[in-house]
Amino acid sequence: MKKIAVCGKGGVGKSFMVYSLTKAFQKKGFNVCVVDTDESNLGLPEMLGIKETPLAFMEYLGGKKSVQQNMMKRFSSGDKEVKISVIEDESFPLAEIGNQYIADHGSIKFITIGKINMPMEGCACPMGAISREFLEKVVLQENEIMIVDTEAGVEHFGRGVEKGIDTVIAISEPTRESLSVAKRIFDLASVMDKKRYLIINKVPYGQIEDKAMGIARAMDLPVSGIVHYDMDVFNSAIEGTEITSKTAILEVEEILNKLI
Ligand SMILES: Nc1ncnc2c1ncn2[C@@H]1O[C@H](COP(=O)(O)OP(=O)(O)OP(=O)(O)O)[C@@H](O)[C@H]1O
Ligand SMILES: [Mg+2]
Repeated sequence: MKKIAVCGKGGVGKSFMVYSLTKAFQKKGFNVCVVDTDESNLGLPEMLGIKETPLAFMEYLGGKKSVQQNMMKRFSSGDKEVKISVIEDESFPLAEIGNQYIADHGSIKFITIGKINMPMEGCACPMGAISREFLEKVVLQENEIMIVDTEAGVEHFGRGVEKGIDTVIAISEPTRESLSVAKRIFDLASVMDKKRYLIINKVPYGQIEDKAMGIARAMDLPVSGIVHYDMDVFNSAIEGTEITSKTAILEVEEILNKLI
């Protein structure tokens, strides 16, 4: 487990899980680099206690317009989107990225690939292409772990964002629809030959846990762990503050201890 993508249907708790896994790895003595590849949501730095969001990695590469033009050139010479390269280096360490583009918060680093900022600015293909290439080319030190927050759904698999990832953690709510998306994620990750784990999140105490396990079993989905619904997590989201929950975060830590 070195480069981990956290995936799932919208709102299932991917960003919460990125936060909790970061804390758990940090406790084990790892330096964690969190990569935000979700072009819509803005709350992850806040959740991690990062006061100033760094400039997007897209800006490091010259900005969206320049990346888009570069991609168009490659398209017209016949390259497929999943093969297009806009990062010149074959590989690079995190230390090579300028300070404005990477937030340093103790043993946590934070990088955001790029957001949609303006109406009519065009699609998110450049973000997908950069995410794929960044994750493939970045070289981590021995005690570094990379945790990637992904956009809801599975489009990023189509864009090959998971190519450089070794582990996919699917997050699901205890509902049939949410577990169906997790199943799709498992199937896609399996084709890409990635390690895959499923965590069911926001599970109320009581019978629902058994029901969710039953649905997962019927879908042939192995469940690595369950995280219960925790009002403290929700309260932190209401306040827009770093998560203060003890129980849900401890549950994630226990799951991780079983996995590594
Ligand atoms: N175990 C939990 N208990 C209670 N609330 C939770 C739990 N996990 C996540 N939440 C809440 O659910 C909401 C969605 O969580 P989060 O933003 O992490 O989901 P997401 O999958 O990243 O969403 P998106 O698809 O929009 O990126 C937030 O308000 C969060 O506080
Ligand atoms: Mg999110």
